Amino acid sequence: MSDQPLTKVVVPAAGLGTRFLPATKTIPKEMLPIVDKPTLQYIVEEAVAAGVKDLILINGRGKSAIDDHFDVAFELETTLAERKKTADVELLKKISQMVNLCSVRQKQPLGLGHAVLCAKSLVGNDPFGVMLGDDMIDSAVPGILQLWRAYLKHQQGVIALMEVPPSQTHLYGIAAGEMLDDRTMKITKIVEKPKSNPPSNMAVIGRYVLPPKIFGILEQTERGVGGEIQLTDALATLQASDGLIGYRFEGIRHDAGDKVGYLIANIAFAMKRPELKAGLLDYLRTVVAAEGRAK
Ligand code: G1P
Repeated sequence: MSDQPLTKVVVPAAGLGTRFLPATKTIPKEMLPIVDKPTLQYIVEEAVAAGVKDLILINGRGKSAIDDHFDVAFELETTLAERKKTADVELLKKISQMVNLCSVRQKQPLGLGHAVLCAKSLVGNDPFGVMLGDDMIDSAVPGILQLWRAYLKHQQGVIALMEVPPSQTHLYGIAAGEMLDDRTMKITKIVEKPKSNPPSNMAVIGRYVLPPKIFGILEQTERGVGGEIQLTDALATLQASDGLIGYRFEGIRHDAGDKVGYLIANIAFAMKRPELKAGLLDYLRTVVAAEGRAK
């Protein structure tokens, strides 16, 4: 049981990406690059590193570039091979062989809970992961694997938690409960984007491992915040009936759905690349010095 792998993850990607207009007029927001890789590829790589074989993408109209990215690019690979660009051919082959990807259309923009529900028949009767593309987790052990291990241990749904400043609690699902150890919370309350009186400052970050029972709950969940079917509301029901674990994951989280967060993610990932680091640092130093002089 303890070495049972997580086999399936659901990645909701049907959003319009309005925060990144006009770039997202024709480019799905999940395809915006962090350095030179689409944001979504980082998420897929995290899933693959956790042992996941099947990725269920919930997408919408105008998102076919995502499916194409993880498919074989025959003409491009052939042209690159003719030009003896072997490394590039290998890079592209690796992407198309990464994972079995299947896409489901979310036909109405009814929220995250509804997006997850669209995966019901493809997930079947196993526990599964949910990974939100805006939340990037840079960690030694893949974020979703940390949650899966907690799921195996506790045999309850597990959600990722991170402390946020009190001024930001209205932007997240917020959970409160009893800490079982340094990282594990037995959740007793969870609310979506509380406008006032948040039960804590532990925010839900976009990684979840859920039992298939969540689908029946989602089918019964009424529209919540923003008129949408909220995953957090379904989690509150699951918590009341079966219990729910929060896991304060190890690693750095970048919010790629926010402009400053997206820019920071670009810098953070570029700094890990020896061929980019020196040039970037030089530039950042001149920016900091110029800002200092301007003060
Ligand atoms: C979603 C969830 C929210 C969670 C957040 C994490 O909100 O509904 O509970 O805290 O992701 O990024 P969104 O950011 O999609 O509005």
